[in-house]
Amino acid sequence: MIQVNYRKLSNSILRLSLIILLAFTTALSAQEGDPTKGKSLFNANCAACHQLDKKMTGPALRNVEARLDEEQGLDRAWIAAWIRNSAGVIKSGDAYANKIYDEYGGAAMTAMPQLSDDDISNILAYTAEEKKAPVQAAAPVGGGESSGASSGISNEIILGALAILFILLAAGLYLVNKTLRRFADAQGINLPEDSKRKPLWKAFVQNQFLMLVVSIFFLLASAYFVYGYFMQIGVDQGYEPVQPIHYSHKIHAGDNGIDCKYCHSSARVSKHSGIPSLNVCMNCHKSIYEVAPETATAEYSKEFYDGEIKKLYAAVGWDDAEQKYTGETQPVKWVRIHNLPDFVYFNHSQHVTVAGVECQTCHGPVEEMEIMYQHAPLTMGWCINCHRETNIDVKDNAYYTKIHEELSKKYGVEELTAAQMGGLECGKCHY
Ligand code: HEC
Ligand code: HEC
Ligand code: HEC
Ligand code: HEC
Ligand code: HEC
Ligand code: HEC
Repeated sequence: MIQVNYRKLSNSILRLSLIILLAFTTALSAQEGDPTKGKSLFNANCAACHQLDKKMTGPALRNVEARLDEEQGLDRAWIAAWIRNSAGVIKSGDAYANKIYDEYGGAAMTAMPQLSDDDISNILAYTAEEKKAPVQAAAPVGGGESSGASSGISNEIILGALAILFILLAAGLYLVNKTLRRFADAQGINLPEDSKRKPLWKAFVQNQFLMLVVSIFFLLASAYFVYGYFMQIGVDQGYEPVQPIHYSHKIHAGDNGIDCKYCHSSARVSKHSGIPSLNVCMNCHKSIYEVAPETATAEYSKEFYDGEIKKLYAAVGWDDAEQKYTGETQPVKWVRIHNLPDFVYFNHSQHVTVAGVECQTCHGPVEEMEIMYQHAPLTMGWCINCHRETNIDVKDNAYYTKIHEELSKKYGVEELTAAQMGGLECGKCHY
């Protein structure tokens, strides 16, 4: 007669299922991209030729992954290969690649071999987002209130999916258990008494290895979420509030190439960069009051923008029909996006003029932002890292020549970092 060690068998099945479950959940989370990161990657790499909802140089890309999968049976690997080197895919004789290439009159897409799998997964997550209705300005807030909403949902989805998986697993194991028992009965195998009577949960609790693995898994998972929760307190990276007038840096600093300092003129000379007064807007907007059709995106339609210029006129008290100011103004309160705590000293001119740091190093690809958002975390670690890594620009700067000579002798280096100049001293940044 065959000896079936029921307990051993059921344990190995449990163990195996757990391993599969773990592998499955990690695979899941690896596939899921971050649409916020995807958005900036998209703006930086794709927006020159693609929009989400409108054909431009290339096809509209909303839901492109699902669309290509349904209509052409093409998977992510194809899309990744295409993005990294579309010319290569076309040359390989790929039927769809050649079709779409011809359809777009042989316009070639830039090869982007530098994009990682994660980058591509983030971009695709962004293209798969629901279309946003243009939001009208909510009640503007004066101060620096910020709500880090928007980031909680995906965690809940992951937790929910995990819970469902666990329930399915439990049900599956119960069925396996039952079938094995029936099989054993039919074969006339005598199961030891204890294993016959013991309910599944008891067998589970008594298996120390399994309990250990499960506890470690849950500990790690909860530590991960708790850590994530605490780290996002007070860090408003990606904060993107609705402004009282929809002002687009992409249209102004990007498409129309207006210099940052035309509007943020004090960045060069003072601690604050400042938001321009609406009179600065009127230098141009007395005459520019309609958005050119090629500037209007599907997301922000022409009608939407028309309303915005009217808001500007109302705010400065400009009567467009009469072409004169009425004197009735309504202050516009821009929602402040970047905001360090009061106990931190940060000075724009020190960084922009003295150190020669580009605005974009800290504020990201502003000229591509339809809506302004916070690019950097603005944490202490962020400031300090840069001070450790950035060399001071001493050229044409008499003030530094002497200190530089002394300090580079002290540290025995050619180039000094901001840190070695004292950029790590608490008192430099804290009042
Ligand atoms: C220089 C312009 C240009 C840039 C930049 C560009 N594309 Fe394209 N893309 C095209 C053109 C043009 C096509 C149409 C096929 C052709 O002519 O090669 C296309 C086609 C595609 C397709 C196939 C769409 C379909 O419906 O079949 C995908 C997917 C795609 N691009 C993704 C991207 C992504 C993602 C980026 C940014 C990482 C990007 N493209 C950047 C020009 C561009
Ligand atoms: C035509 C005027 C204009 C130009 C040019 C302009 N900006 Fe702005 N900027 C504004 C206005 C108005 C706001 C406030 C509304 C908003 O946040 O979108 C603003 C807000 C900002 C903010 C966020 C301020 C906050 O509340 O924390 C940053 C950062 C910024 N601009 C950087 C730049 C950079 C970098 C450039 C150049 C690439 C630039 N701006 C060009 C008008 C301008
Ligand atoms: C140096 C000139 C200049 C300044 C200053 C300027 N804009 Fe503009 N603005 C433009 C141009 C050019 C366009 C694009 C018009 C087009 O595409 O037809 C534009 C477009 C717009 C639009 C899109 C709506 C439309 O109908 O064109 C809005 C809204 C807008 N600007 C608001 C502002 C605000 C608010 C300010 C002040 C913070 C400002 N602008 C300052 C030149 C300027
Ligand atoms: C070294 C990093 C860094 C650089 C470079 C930089 N900024 Fe800033 N910027 C910040 C920080 C940090 C804040 C938040 C300041 C605060 O809350 O006191 C900020 C805030 C702002 C604000 C909000 C209003 C204000 O003054 O607090 C604007 C507008 C702005 N920056 C524009 C610019 C422009 C335009 C440039 C380029 C000329 C630029 N920044 C360069 C880090 C930088
Ligand atoms: C992109 C890199 C970069 C970032 C980010 C940055 N800094 Fe700096 N910072 C510099 C450089 C470079 C200098 C040296 C400037 C000079 O030549 O004096 C400097 C100088 C300073 C100084 C003067 C130090 C001294 O020795 O006199 C202060 C204060 C300062 N930074 C504060 C901050 C704070 C606060 C933050 C974060 C909110 C920040 N910095 C973020 C690059 C950076
Ligand atoms: C280069 C600038 C810089 C230097 C140097 C610096 N800090 Fe900070 N510190 C910051 C910024 C920016 C914040 C605000 C971080 C935030 O809001 O998340 C901060 C926050 C803090 C906080 C509040 C806790 C927190 O993380 O929000 C403490 C405490 C602190 N710093 C202590 C120190 C001490 C002690 C030193 C000297 C060893 C020091 N800092 C040096 C920039 C600096």
